Amino acid sequence: MPTDKDQPAAPLAGKHPAPPCTLVIFGAGGDLTKRLLMPALYNLASDGLLDDKMQIIGVNHGQRETSEWRDELSESLRKFAADRASTFHTSQLNEKAWDWVSQRLQYFAGEFESDETFSQLAQLIATMKTSNVVFYLAVTARFFKPIVEHLGRAGLLKEEGGNFRRIVIEKPFGTDLASARDLNAHILGYASESQVYRIDHFLGKDTVQSILAVRFANALFEPMWRREYIDHVQITAAETIGVEGRGRFYEQTGAFRDMVPNHLFQLLGMIAMEPPNSFDAETVRDKKAEVFDAIQPLGARDVVFGQYEKGAAGPGYREEPDVAPESRTETYAAARVYVENWRWAGVPFYLRTGKRLAARRTEVSVQLKAVPFRLFRDTPVDALTPNVLTLRIDPAHGTTFDFNVKVPGPVMQVGAVQSSFNYGDFFDERANVGYETLLYDCMLGDETLFQRADSIETAWAAVDPVLHPQGAPIDVHGYAAGSEGPAEADALLAADGRAWRSLIDKSNKKQEDKA
Ligand code: BG6
Repeated sequence: MPTDKDQPAAPLAGKHPAPPCTLVIFGAGGDLTKRLLMPALYNLASDGLLDDKMQIIGVNHGQRETSEWRDELSESLRKFAADRASTFHTSQLNEKAWDWVSQRLQYFAGEFESDETFSQLAQLIATMKTSNVVFYLAVTARFFKPIVEHLGRAGLLKEEGGNFRRIVIEKPFGTDLASARDLNAHILGYASESQVYRIDHFLGKDTVQSILAVRFANALFEPMWRREYIDHVQITAAETIGVEGRGRFYEQTGAFRDMVPNHLFQLLGMIAMEPPNSFDAETVRDKKAEVFDAIQPLGARDVVFGQYEKGAAGPGYREEPDVAPESRTETYAAARVYVENWRWAGVPFYLRTGKRLAARRTEVSVQLKAVPFRLFRDTPVDALTPNVLTLRIDPAHGTTFDFNVKVPGPVMQVGAVQSSFNYGDFFDERANVGYETLLYDCMLGDETLFQRADSIETAWAAVDPVLHPQGAPIDVHGYAAGSEGPAEADALLAADGRAWRSLIDKSNKKQEDKA
């Protein structure tokens, strides 16, 4: 039995442990539990942010002993620590913190759709040290409805005596507007909106949360953060990985559904929202909801789909396991989005995402309008490079700013330079898999970083015409694995007189050449 002495660390300055709670994870044997939830719980435990009464029940089909589950998780955590020192910032596990978590683990065998599972689970929960429960649905989407329904019918979602009962739901939250509405209606038939925590893991990233700090904690940016000064915004989530054995899921989903109305729209929301009056969950989410509501529904002419073919980075998508040889699923999507409100009318937001691209790069680039050129008319300067503020989310964490200076020498030449800031140069890197804040906030009851039913639906509504086109299906263009995407995506911007920023980092070229 855990004791107070097992608490591994003093809480972080300014933070206190989350309230006592039992975490019930449906999908205990899955990848998400292994790769993200357990490392996040371990990191929270290392920081002393979990209450001593916390217990973790892992539900999965298939009989096994708790000790087997613990051993499997210990092994994978040790492996992550060794392989991914950059995530944990140490190759050695803090044994005390992991013991603290692993002693609290309990495996519970049960089918997700059987009444018996839930009546037995109710009995088990009644023996826990607290009646606060978070039900985490780390399962494939087809189990969302039956699990919530069973929880409701078993009385497990009743909040009595000041205790909370919360449900965390992973994406994909629906596959289009109709299915998202249906899922919301179903869930809200058993739980109230305040009990439902819809996760978009991009919001767990510090660099994404920092967008609001950059915008609203500085005097420099906000005055120019509007249509009068901004030419356009580019939002990129480029990956080098392929579908990683998820062919079956990906065939049904595609890059557009997988990334655009959720992760990329969340970034767009943070960039485009009006300043909230506080960081209160409803205030922030209302402001974001206004942005989604103002998005002009996308049409076929606003999107380009691509699919990777054999190239420098490897075989084509159609050669991946569980992918149809004639598959028309897109592994790349680019979109032009307009937010038709007072601040943004006429400013295009260009979104792109894809697998097997030339580089891994998640970032937002805000490009300012050109200055008048007159002053340089009689100089050898041909053109001025636009000012671009780039918020780098992954794998680099920081910002860059492109601007112009005079090239040293006797004539007026202008050279484009870049100034950059990296988080690691200013702050200690913290062990973080991106789920720490989300889990902690859920236990605290802070819904700021979770998606509300209405926003999910408005986001799907904006893309529904692309998902269900009136005319012919959207063409899927080939691109070589390892390239920057299909030529047609370049043409989308070229038609507007613009170009994508290269995925290959060409900054500091001179310094690199010198080194
Ligand atoms: C997931 C998608 O939601 O996000 C994956 O399903 C994608 O296909 C992943 O690879 C990207 O997230 P991150 O945090 O690795 O950029």
